[in-house]
Amino acid sequence: MSSTAANVSCSVPLSQFSGTVALIGAGKMGGALIEGWIGLGLDPARIAAIEPEPAPAIAALAGRGLKLNPDPQSLRPDAIVLAVKPQTAPEIVARIAALTVPTSVVVSIMAGRTLAFLGRALPPTAAIVRAMPNTPAAIGRGITVAVPNARVTPAQRGLAHSLLAATGAVEWIADEGLMDAVTAVSGSGPAYVFLLAESLAQAGVAAGLPADLAARLARATVAGAGELLRRSPLEVSQLRQNVTSPGGTTAAALDVLMAAEGMDQLLKRAVAAATRRSVELAG
Ligand SMILES: NC(=O)c1ccc[n+]([C@@H]2O[C@H](COP(=O)([O-])OP(=O)(O)OC[C@H]3O[C@@H](n4cnc5c(N)ncnc54)[C@H](OP(=O)(O)O)[C@@H]3O)[C@@H](O)[C@H]2O)c1
Repeated sequence: MSSTAANVSCSVPLSQFSGTVALIGAGKMGGALIEGWIGLGLDPARIAAIEPEPAPAIAALAGRGLKLNPDPQSLRPDAIVLAVKPQTAPEIVARIAALTVPTSVVVSIMAGRTLAFLGRALPPTAAIVRAMPNTPAAIGRGITVAVPNARVTPAQRGLAHSLLAATGAVEWIADEGLMDAVTAVSGSGPAYVFLLAESLAQAGVAAGLPADLAARLARATVAGAGELLRRSPLEVSQLRQNVTSPGGTTAAALDVLMAAEGMDQLLKRAVAAATRRSVELAG
């Protein structure tokens, strides 16, 4: 399954949504979600945010109708989005069980917290979506992978899709077992790309460039190549080949990076290590 129009046919335009979304935890990720929802036309009055220390931008939205820390009993939320740290999950999930109504879908973006963990604390009939976003969500360029439990109806899945799509692309999977590898590829992946920019800058310094120039070149190169990748219809390998003349400078570098113990092997080991760690942390 993936996020094609066919399998999210029930996705709800947020500008027409007339229910209530309860967001538990309006920190970095929760704040990005709220910003994305409102950007897509969701009326702030449709949002209830539970957040002990709201950032000024979140507090300001109360003036536009957002319900900040309302009495939880007053809510009958269509969706409850859990965006607190995984460590606080046992206490918080137990408390939000009281918030769910039979039609609610609970969408958790907590890293490592499984559908089974969430299901144990919520009513047995609870519809739950476990999702893994990544940090480019902060600028609406994230990618989120989502997996539903068996209770999620097409309409609930559509609502979950619309809420998650506010920070970027959404992919749906049926097998929760893939979530550890997803975490290792797209969840942790932005850090690998940032490291690439750091390493490229250091290599530039080693080749004789002033450090500040090397840092600017590396940053702009990674960002520009990423944007080209996003906009181009070409395969990634084709884009690489297009900038690699036989016998040229890029080819000389790629001979090193694509050697037997080069980047492929390094990233396989890195992703395997992250996948193992995700399995260890899951609960
Ligand atoms: N950031 C990422 O790139 C990323 C990527 C993938 C998944 N995630 C997941 O997203 C979740 C949120 O991460 P984040 O980076 O946004 O963390 P964060 O900025 O720390 O946000 C969590 C928020 O929840 C609040 N909170 C704590 N206890 C609460 C309670 N009892 N009721 C309601 N809110 C409460 C925190 O308030 P205080 O500050 O007052 O404690 C904080 O504002 C995590 O589970 C993480 O695994 C994040």
